[in-house]
Amino acid sequence: MTQPMLDIDGLVAGYGATRVIHGLSLAVREGGVTALLGANGAGKTTLMKTLCGLLPVQGGTLRFMGEDIGRSAADRRVLAGLVLVPEGRMVFPSLSVYENLRLGGINLRARPQWRRNVERVYEIFPRLHERSSQAAVTLSGGEQQMLAIGRGLMAEPRLMLLDEPTLGLAPVMALEIFALVRRLSAEGLTLLLAEQDVQRTLEVASHAYVVENGRIAAEGPAAEIAGDSRIRQAYLGL
Ligand SMILES: Nc1ncnc2c1ncn2[C@@H]1O[C@H](COP(=O)(O)OP(=O)(O)O)[C@@H](O)[C@H]1O
Ligand SMILES: [Mg+2]
Repeated sequence: MTQPMLDIDGLVAGYGATRVIHGLSLAVREGGVTALLGANGAGKTTLMKTLCGLLPVQGGTLRFMGEDIGRSAADRRVLAGLVLVPEGRMVFPSLSVYENLRLGGINLRARPQWRRNVERVYEIFPRLHERSSQAAVTLSGGEQQMLAIGRGLMAEPRLMLLDEPTLGLAPVMALEIFALVRRLSAEGLTLLLAEQDVQRTLEVASHAYVVENGRIAAEGPAAEIAGDSRIRQAYLGL
């Protein structure tokens, strides 16, 4: 078997003395969607923040594309291709759609291609193209999520960490986001997807991990997790 793209071993992390991740191990292989499931408060967002360098590694190791990144600054990780699309979108509200996208592509690796990348984002999201000069705050929730993903794509990710992209969205918009995840995955992007919509997530994912209290409670091929009534009842509320 080839080496995983992202290899997390015995990770300990949290907010200062408040430990949230307690020795978590997980691997993401190149290609496809890896699902990160688990109840509210399980530690999914904390894990993603630690992966991209917004929270320090307090124990264990993080390897990305064969490199130990546990102590790398956040911008170095983006440069390496590890890109977070955060929970709650976090677009810059007073900046235009276009300006938000440009800021997504400022890392040294992606910057030379930023014009081409904006074109690609506008091709994927015609609605963002139409609203190019509009302030991000004026967009609907779904459009802001598209912008957050578009901004992430501008950084030319090798692995996109996508944290709760359908949270708070209308059902029809949530479906659009899942269709987009499928498309990006089919085009070769590797994704780690944290989501509350377990059913749909297991449909797009190849492999799934269930997080409980900062640890992995279950893992396996997505189809097996979907078909395991014990796991579904114990952890996924299905
Ligand atoms: N800024 C913070 N300071 C202290 N504790 C936090 C902070 N943010 C989240 N937590 C705690 O970390 C735990 C995991 O939260 P989170 O990672 O957001 O879970 P999830 O994304 O799975 O819903 C929760 O108990 C939450 O209260
Ligand atoms: Mg979260």
